[in-house]
Amino acid sequence: MSELSEPFDPEQVYLPAEDTYLLRDAVLSVVRPKDYVLEVGTGSGEIAASAAKVAEHTFACEINPHAACYAKEVNGVDVVRSDLFSAISGSFDLICFNAPYLPTTPEERMHDWLEAALDGGPSGRDTVYRFLEEAPGHLKDEGQILLLISSLTGVEEVISFAEEHGCTAEIFKTETEEDGEELVVLKICKAK
Ligand SMILES: C[S@@+](CC[C@H](N)C(=O)[O-])C[C@H]1O[C@@H](n2cnc3c(N)ncnc32)[C@H](O)[C@@H]1O
Repeated sequence: MSELSEPFDPEQVYLPAEDTYLLRDAVLSVVRPKDYVLEVGTGSGEIAASAAKVAEHTFACEINPHAACYAKEVNGVDVVRSDLFSAISGSFDLICFNAPYLPTTPEERMHDWLEAALDGGPSGRDTVYRFLEEAPGHLKDEGQILLLISSLTGVEEVISFAEEHGCTAEIFKTETEEDGEELVVLKICKAK
């Protein structure tokens, strides 16, 4: 895509933080060399670049053009610009997403690309729900999804939504932050 070769602003890119490292470590604990891996919303590309050291067939997508450029040029990630799966075809053994998971009111919106990194809509679940509607269609039968959300997102609501959309969902990893917020990695598979 043309945007991927244009100059980018690193200040518009979500740089690695605690949530990034929690999901990266979860991915590295399950990824296998022959896996086809997709990171949705790759941001800086930290997670996809780490997975690619294990699985040669690792790809990423990202809605933010600055982040897509950063991931490609700084971390060498094979990335396309895409709103979730709109530019993605094929199915994967592992799909991971550190989603925009913070409840955000219209007044709190920042109206820049960093907003897309954090803004989960009023419930925190707007993008998470869109992702869960589309992701199973890109998952191999024995594949798994690792989805990072937070206690602020509503973990039980997300698990219920996944189950209503033909999946099983369980808590795979958690980490509690200093302010009491709990980061949660859900493991989601197609129900048999
Ligand atoms: C919380 S950040 C995580 C970034 C990176 N994966 C990490 O863990 O550091 C969420 C990322 O998802 C991207 N994103 C948000 N909505 C998206 C969408 N609809 N399609 C693709 N990417 C999206 C954001 O631009 C942002 O880079």
